[in-house]
Amino acid sequence: MTRRHGLSTTAIHGRPRRGADWTPAVTPIYQSSTFRNPMGSDEEVLYTRYGNNPNQVELARKYALLEGAERAIFVASGMAATALAHLAVLRPGDHLISSLWIYGGTRVLFDGEFIRHGIEITYVDPDRPRDWRKAVRKNTRAIFVEALTNPVMRVVNVPLLAKLAQEHGIALLVDSTFASPINFRPLEHGADIVITSATKYLNGHSDVIAGAVAGSGAVIEEVTRLMRVWGPSIDPHAAWLTERGMKTLALRVERANTNAMAVAKWASTRPEFLAVHYPGLRSHPDHALAARLLDGYGGLVGLILEGGAPAAQKFVQHLKVITHAPSLAGVESLISEPRLTSHKPLTAEQRAGQGVPDGFLRLSCGCEDAEDLINDLAGALQ
Ligand SMILES: Cc1ncc(COP(=O)(O)O)c(C=O)c1O
Repeated sequence: MTRRHGLSTTAIHGRPRRGADWTPAVTPIYQSSTFRNPMGSDEEVLYTRYGNNPNQVELARKYALLEGAERAIFVASGMAATALAHLAVLRPGDHLISSLWIYGGTRVLFDGEFIRHGIEITYVDPDRPRDWRKAVRKNTRAIFVEALTNPVMRVVNVPLLAKLAQEHGIALLVDSTFASPINFRPLEHGADIVITSATKYLNGHSDVIAGAVAGSGAVIEEVTRLMRVWGPSIDPHAAWLTERGMKTLALRVERANTNAMAVAKWASTRPEFLAVHYPGLRSHPDHALAARLLDGYGGLVGLILEGGAPAAQKFVQHLKVITHAPSLAGVESLISEPRLTSHKPLTAEQRAGQGVPDGFLRLSCGCEDAEDLINDLAGALQ
């Protein structure tokens, strides 16, 4: 679907249309599993597991417009979106090439479930770009990457991978959760399928679990078919909350971008932080690529505190504005230690090898005042 308005207008109105008099100004909640059928009709029935409840349909339309996709579908979590998007393009015996820099839950899905279902997987370190081409086999059907990575905020060169995927007739799937369509729209750079955990920026209030897939009509048709049989449809109330949250998506992401930049710049001046990972900083290894690809550098900052795990724990205990919790992209700033969350299964040496030593803090900047976030961090340093 082509977007006729800006991203902010689209996030609020979708494709604006004049409503009839006395109808609600916002989409009401259709908290109904089923809908009355016209007698004798052979049209598709309306049933919430099928993804055709008005709340699900309205939300998906809006998101497709934001990503510049033909169609989109919402499901019950980001994990469901990742699973179904891959199952839509992979069959037993197929080969998947995945970036090494991915969410731990996705890694468990790939290694624990996909391999069990006969899908072969090769992991590539995006820092060795030649390895992508080397990994391609006759049975390779898909490449999967996260556009912005957790927790060191590396930026993956999506246009370069899109070229390789097109050359070989392979589908390129991009998890764009950390960027949101405000900062990066993978389909504009040649990706075939976008996956997002709507739990994060799309909803933005830390009160919903949801996910979405956007792409061509044919791919979304297949994801929808899988959703109907495997069953992870989004509940109408969660869909309604997500649509409501999405109305402020542009505002929230722009504020998170500004806050993260302010925090990253401040943290860079503090000797207590051994390193600050933020793609908006010139010191970041992907700053040039980020400046070329992204409309905003994002709301997440990686901070390495001197003194390792004990110092990090003490630091977190003294924060008042910033909440110590996993997840990200809510209006409230959240901080977590990857050693206890996403990187828990790894040894301390493995974590350090990935640039995530003990003492690493991942800060998701929310929509508070930048000054208050900086004061909170400065207070905890003292
Ligand atoms: C990049 C990324 N993708 C997918 C997911 C899974 O999303 P959900 O928790 O909504 O299932 C997460 C969760 O943190 C994530 O960080």
